[in-house]
Amino acid sequence: MAQLWGGRFTKETSKLVYDFNASIRFDKRLFDQDIEGSIAHADMLGKQGIISEDEKNKIIKGLQGILEDVHSGKLKITEEYEDIHSFAEANLIERIGDAGKKLHTGRSRNDQVALDMRLYIRHEIEETDAVLYELVKTLLKIMEENIDTYMPGFTHLQKAQPTTLAHHFGAYFEMFRRDRERLASIRERMNYCPLGAGAMAGTTYPLDRDYTARMLKFTGPTINSMDSVADRDYVIEYLNALSIIMMHLSRFSEEIIIWNSNEYGFVELDDSYSTGSSIMPQKKNPDIAELVRGKTGRVYAALTSLLTTMKGLPLAYNKDMQEDKELTFDAIDTVKSCIVLFTGMVDTMKFNKEVMAESAMKGFTNATDAADYLVGKGVPFRDAHSIVGRLVLSCIEKEKGILDLTISELKVISPEFDEDIYEAVSLKTCVDRRLTTGAPGREAITKTISFYKEYISKGCNWK
Ligand code: ARG
Repeated sequence: MAQLWGGRFTKETSKLVYDFNASIRFDKRLFDQDIEGSIAHADMLGKQGIISEDEKNKIIKGLQGILEDVHSGKLKITEEYEDIHSFAEANLIERIGDAGKKLHTGRSRNDQVALDMRLYIRHEIEETDAVLYELVKTLLKIMEENIDTYMPGFTHLQKAQPTTLAHHFGAYFEMFRRDRERLASIRERMNYCPLGAGAMAGTTYPLDRDYTARMLKFTGPTINSMDSVADRDYVIEYLNALSIIMMHLSRFSEEIIIWNSNEYGFVELDDSYSTGSSIMPQKKNPDIAELVRGKTGRVYAALTSLLTTMKGLPLAYNKDMQEDKELTFDAIDTVKSCIVLFTGMVDTMKFNKEVMAESAMKGFTNATDAADYLVGKGVPFRDAHSIVGRLVLSCIEKEKGILDLTISELKVISPEFDEDIYEAVSLKTCVDRRLTTGAPGREAITKTISFYKEYISKGCNWK
């Protein structure tokens, strides 16, 4: 049991209490950030004359040595330390002696952990953006290849109007584009440095907080020292963004599961992204999509958990806040791997274009257009709506589509129908006449696609 405190205590902590309190098992993930923050702190202490130049140099060299040794595997992060901060400090003192004991001057573990967590979340926001970028790039590629791939659009999971695969994927492009914007705005808001807040009330040493903030690439220092050590809003915001990403991925997964079902057959998942059954030889299951959908629950759980942990905490730091880590780390790992796997799955998926077009044709998705055709002939829309309703009913009785009826059969329903109806309600016409901004018509979606190409050409936000 190695801990940074003990002077005030007359009894040893019991093993049970020590273990319950310790966090190294999971906060070892913050090792790089802890060293980076300590180097900045030591540098500033030296610049301000709070420690000597020689002590500063020894500390920085010692910390860099620890970083290298952990990365090379020479030094293991073991669980005999209470947390990652104690591990780094104890190793430093062991390496460089008394100078190491000065590192913590003007610092508390409260501002130290607040800094580590911020550095870590900032980095993970960037990583999340990078994998999302690959996903939207893949979606755009599929959109470009499928401007004329007709399919039914749905409302209430009932065939509604014809659209295209490019248009359908474009909807998800928008969702993930917003997710990336959300990440960028969180990053901007959180990018302030809590180092120097001390335990909660700052410190009497003449720290230069602007200097450390600059060194660590923050916009500036945080401006209330109590808030600095008590704030986990940015973790909550990030978990919220991750939850929304999962909600999007989960909806998309659900659609792919439906499209991949025997009944729909719109898509076929690649063998490398599907799994078999141990008993039914014919099966090829969409397990990846199901797992992405399923894992959404644990990401929401992390968000709910941290919101609940924080809601009753008096200012400033409370140990409850140590609970910000495990579920957040799990959520980050989960979301990043879901995005990567999902990208691979859609990238390798085959689209059964004929099946999709056939389905669009069979579901009376051109009924709105047939009504619009009558409106074009001077029939008021409400009447046109009811005429086409009767037309659909008669088609159902005959087990035919609108396009399969002869002109005389059509004229029985309404004398306004002429030969040009066939062209007017063909899939191609139905889609291509939809030219409002954001619609699937060829010209409209081509405009959208060129806007997306420009967006993609800007590359990743931080890589
Ligand atoms: N492991 C702690 C955490 O994650 C570090 C901060 C400890 N500070 C304290 N006053 N006990 O929050």
